[in-house]
Amino acid sequence: MSEAKLAQLQYALAERAAKHLLRQPVTLDNYNGRLITINGQQYLNFSGNDYLGLATAPEVLQALAEGATHYGAGSSGSPLVTGQHKVHQQLCDTLCDWLGVERALLFSSGFAANQAMLLTLADKQDLLLLDKLSHASLIDAALCSKADLKRFAHNDLNSLSSLLKQQTAGALQPMVVTEGVFSMDGDSPDLPALLALCQQYKAPLLLDDAHGLGVLGPEGSGSATAQGIAINDLFCLMANFGKALGIGGAFIAGSKTVIDYLEQFGRHYIYSTGLSPALCAAVLKSIELCRSQNWRREQLQQNISLFRQLAAELPLLVSDTAIQGVVLGDNERALAASKQLKLAGVWLSAIRPPTVPAGSARLRITLSAQHTAQDIRLLVQQLRQIA
Ligand SMILES: Cc1ncc(COP(=O)(O)O)c(C=O)c1O
Repeated sequence: MSEAKLAQLQYALAERAAKHLLRQPVTLDNYNGRLITINGQQYLNFSGNDYLGLATAPEVLQALAEGATHYGAGSSGSPLVTGQHKVHQQLCDTLCDWLGVERALLFSSGFAANQAMLLTLADKQDLLLLDKLSHASLIDAALCSKADLKRFAHNDLNSLSSLLKQQTAGALQPMVVTEGVFSMDGDSPDLPALLALCQQYKAPLLLDDAHGLGVLGPEGSGSATAQGIAINDLFCLMANFGKALGIGGAFIAGSKTVIDYLEQFGRHYIYSTGLSPALCAAVLKSIELCRSQNWRREQLQQNISLFRQLAAELPLLVSDTAIQGVVLGDNERALAASKQLKLAGVWLSAIRPPTVPAGSARLRITLSAQHTAQDIRLLVQQLRQIA
């Protein structure tokens, strides 16, 4: 019996390898933001999500160490048992102050937060409407939830509008889910127009702002405020601490009612060890720096503009964020390009299906405030040779 199961797994692995879709984790010898060392070889890193360079900020590292000394390395339990320390509450209060929301709840990862958000908030009387390019954590959550699921064309308000219209006579309550910045394309929906459409159909709008928080809006408060809408107009906001804030973990923020409900019924929150308190201390410091050091966001914006200007003749996706894509189409071609860049000292992973749609394998460039103009020139020079 187990042989048959193992043979099935081996077949799937072999099939994936034959399609050039096998992925392998990379073990870093050293990380300092813009530079990484792998197998003794140093590379310019254009693949991370440490957009503001906070993962290695000395103040953040010190806060992590002091947090561990003060509160312990781990939280030792579910937040509803003994896993919530003062520093967790401080972090929730800080998020409320920063984002202007009533309550926030912490999760061990963005994946878990998205699972909790859709599995807990959507029920059998609901219809989840997700953008076609939604992150895997949202798609899986929607598929596992008791709600029905439909997908609208990427960032396409007409497509969403027709799904909402179809629903007016139906018995299901629509809930709309999108992202502030799409993780593989780097583009954004028109949030004010999307919100107006949701309001017209009385549909709650749920936003994953993993790639907008810290980078966009006043004090880095994210995509909603960057586009002039209040976070309170959303049904809830999910974002993580592992991207621009440089650490790990995540939160869902919103009204008291929504967060009270998640606290009582969110299984990913209730039945999971709370975030490490040391990590919370580091996130608090990271948020403080993110809010006060606008120069990090300005530097990132300058780097994005420089890249777009120098790479104007390359087949770039339309994006004015830190995520820039060069679509090559074929999986093998994307892998070969990534290999060639590595030989030139540039670390840039090839992104292939199922992370992106079939036939749209690409080089996904992520820019950081830490990159220098010279780094970006070198990157573009290499990309030109490939394209
Ligand atoms: C849009 C989006 N949502 C959610 C996640 C999951 O977050 P985490 O890495 O904290 O689990 C990611 C990260 O890959 C993401 O890009």
